[in-house]
Amino acid sequence: MNEGPSDNLQVLIGADKIHERVRELASQISTDYRGRSLRLIGILKGSWIFLADLIRQLDLDVSVSFLGVASYGRSTKTSGEVKITLDLDDSIEGLDVLVVEDILDTGETFRYLQGVLTGHQPRSLKSVVLLDKPARRTQHVKADYVGFTIPDVFVVGYGLDFSQQYRNLPDVCVLHP
Ligand code: PRP
Repeated sequence: MNEGPSDNLQVLIGADKIHERVRELASQISTDYRGRSLRLIGILKGSWIFLADLIRQLDLDVSVSFLGVASYGRSTKTSGEVKITLDLDDSIEGLDVLVVEDILDTGETFRYLQGVLTGHQPRSLKSVVLLDKPARRTQHVKADYVGFTIPDVFVVGYGLDFSQQYRNLPDVCVLHP
């Protein structure tokens, strides 16, 4: 039984607002890639719920693959070390690729992904993030499509976790310690 958000959770972006924005992003992406095939690459684990909603709104010839990444020093976000935990299962050479991420925070993961994916020689490489938290950026990176720009608060839900919990919340919530 779902007990609902607890006292230390506060809704930042409700499910209805998320779904409306996902539809807008999908419409923009469908327009921009009209007549082309698009490969989505979902970055695990956080992106999978966003990707599942986004892909069903895309009016395009679309395929999907996943890439798992993990960061060291995540608690402090200062190490900037990222490693692949699940690699791509087929070639993306010559494809139009759109990286799908739940959140762009320091940008360390993004910077790493750009290097890795560019090395696979896609035809084009762009990115969509549901949430952008520019206040914490340590790398000079930005996403091509952004759902919501948020302040420097710790968020969970709609795929985002704290110690692997809360990913199932339908809303994006602020987690208060
Ligand atoms: C989150 C998110 C991004 C990354 C962004 O992943 O999914 O991949 O952090 O942070 P950065 O911009 O500071 O690098 P996380 O390491 O929490 O793993 P998860 O996706 O498995 O939850």
